[in-house]
Amino acid sequence: MERVTWFFLIYLICCEVASCLTTAAQTNLNITTERSALLALKACITNDPRNIVFTNWSTTTPVCNWVGVTCGERHHRVADLNLSYFGLTGTIPPELGNLSFLINMDFSNNSFHGILPQELAHLRRLKFISLGNNKFMSVILSWFGSLFKLQVFSLFGNQFSGSIPATIFNLSALQKIDLRDNQLSGTYKLMYLPTNYLKP
Ligand SMILES: *[C@@H]1O[C@H](CO)[C@@H](O)[C@H](O)[C@H]1NC(C)=O
Ligand SMILES: *[C@@H]1O[C@H](CO)[C@@H](O)[C@H](O)[C@H]1NC(C)=O
Ligand SMILES: *[C@@H]1O[C@H](CO)[C@@H](O)[C@H](O)[C@H]1NC(C)=O
Ligand SMILES: *[C@@H]1O[C@H](CO)[C@@H](O)[C@H](O)[C@H]1NC(C)=O
Ligand SMILES: *[C@@H]1O[C@H](CO)[C@@H](O)[C@H](O)[C@H]1NC(C)=O
Ligand SMILES: *[C@@H]1O[C@H](CO)[C@@H](O)[C@H](O)[C@H]1NC(C)=O
Repeated sequence: MERVTWFFLIYLICCEVASCLTTAAQTNLNITTERSALLALKACITNDPRNIVFTNWSTTTPVCNWVGVTCGERHHRVADLNLSYFGLTGTIPPELGNLSFLINMDFSNNSFHGILPQELAHLRRLKFISLGNNKFMSVILSWFGSLFKLQVFSLFGNQFSGSIPATIFNLSALQKIDLRDNQLSGTYKLMYLPTNYLKP
């Protein structure tokens, strides 16, 4: 009996260490990684009519000073990415999933197109996503359901199709969903949920 307990304890400790190592590997992604992620995004931008990103996101200035980028005061990592109304055309590269401290992502009112990379599911701190008024397409994949801190999920005015994945309704922090003006099936396209909506 006792031996079994010990084995169990050691097993638990090993699991704990292993999960710490995984977390550490994630947080090892430092500001240099975030800089490459944003440069990857810049490289995916094909039109910048007001030359905002093209001239301002320069490798000679720190990332935290770039227009549209706000870093957290404590950890100095990218916490906010707001490119709303920049008039940009482009796609979103998978590297954006390396912005592991990102809380707000506002790309609304641009001409971003293509498919959302599933690496965005790594953005576990995300509370606010607004991709409204762009040209994103394809189905909304269920990986959104792993963004457990999500409060606002706004994809209005794109070309998303298919059905609304049920995993979205599993997000207990969610307060607003706006999926209007897409080609989605189903009835719930705009919802303001009371806090604790799905909690028992
Ligand atoms: C960021 O991490 C890489 C390797 O993961 C390392 O080579 C680099 O020195 C780190 N940069 C900073 C600013 O910590
Ligand atoms: C980018 O814009 C910020 C804020 O307007 C400014 O402080 C910075 O000097 C600009 N950097 C470049 C390289 O234009
Ligand atoms: C992004 O910037 C726009 C315009 O400057 C502003 O209206 C909007 O509230 C910002 N989004 C977030 C998430 O702060
Ligand atoms: C960042 O993301 C890309 C694509 O998801 C990946 O290939 C890369 O290894 C990641 N990490 C770093 C440190 O750039
Ligand atoms: C989006 O922004 C452009 C200017 O950048 C403006 O002309 C257009 O009316 C905006 N669209 C909406 C729906 O706000
Ligand atoms: C909702 O979350 C529970 C618990 O994590 C999980 O078992 C279930 O499969 C999820 N449902 C959907 C539709 O994702």
